[in-house]
Amino acid sequence: MPEAETIWIIGASDGIGAALAHEWAARGARLILSARSAGPLEELAASLGPDHLALPLDVSDRKSLVAAAQKIAGIGPLDRVVHLAAMYDPGKVADLDPETAGKIVLVNLTGSFHIAQIAPPLLRNGGQLALCGSVAGYIGLPQGQIYSATKAGVINLAQSLRAELAGQYDVRLISPGFVDTRLTQRNDFTMPAMVTRDTAAQGIIKGLGRRSFEVHFPRRLTYALKLLSVLPYWVALPLTSRLTR
Ligand SMILES: NC(=O)c1ccc[n+]([C@@H]2O[C@H](COP(=O)([O-])OP(=O)(O)OC[C@H]3O[C@@H](n4cnc5c(N)ncnc54)[C@H](OP(=O)(O)O)[C@@H]3O)[C@@H](O)[C@H]2O)c1
Repeated sequence: MPEAETIWIIGASDGIGAALAHEWAARGARLILSARSAGPLEELAASLGPDHLALPLDVSDRKSLVAAAQKIAGIGPLDRVVHLAAMYDPGKVADLDPETAGKIVLVNLTGSFHIAQIAPPLLRNGGQLALCGSVAGYIGLPQGQIYSATKAGVINLAQSLRAELAGQYDVRLISPGFVDTRLTQRNDFTMPAMVTRDTAAQGIIKGLGRRSFEVHFPRRLTYALKLLSVLPYWVALPLTSRLTR
């Protein structure tokens, strides 16, 4: 029997992260569950069984990440780190509140950078680090900022990290389309090809078990947006400007 994997999920208190926790616990993994809200994390850890640890932190606060890393180092090497924590409050550039926009950059992009520095030394040799982008980062769409810009940044960060850590760690990029979570519940438009968080979690686990750098789903949406992002600007931008609601 292979030994149980030890997996650190950051952004585990809700949504895709919580669904991943359920799926991996059912497969026998030992989980370290992080997000800001201690209560939901502890409830989740307890509901999954005795082997799991709730470890609250804020990814925009380097000190809280360093403290969490010290605790994890005492537990032993990790097989995987999956970083999902993010804030979502998109809109038209002119309408954005600069303070909220700055906070989103700090959580989504700077937070991913902190994880990119802090997580690798906690992994076993060949262990996996997955960062979460979004199809929103493939190409700038109207009314999607500043969230989309942070996700474009995470994609770029994961690409650099994949090359820099090649041969030591297995760096991956997760690119979801629309998933039914509290994050998308605030959208007031029809979301094409939406999937449940359980479907997303199962797809992510399957994808991370394969070899491809990027785990993207659902394909009917991701391939359409990938195509849009590789078209010449003179074709793509008139198409995206038609998406203004
Ligand atoms: N849902 C979608 O359609 C969709 C599409 C594309 C990409 N994604 C990406 O998928 C990931 C998960 O999204 P989701 O839909 O599951 O969102 P969600 O339900 O809002 O969950 C986000 C998680 O991140 C945690 N979090 C937020 N800010 C944090 C911070 N500063 N420090 C630590 N943890 C923090 C939240 O917990 P606390 O509030 O307790 O901290 C929560 O556990 C995100 O990276 C998102 O951008 C989602």
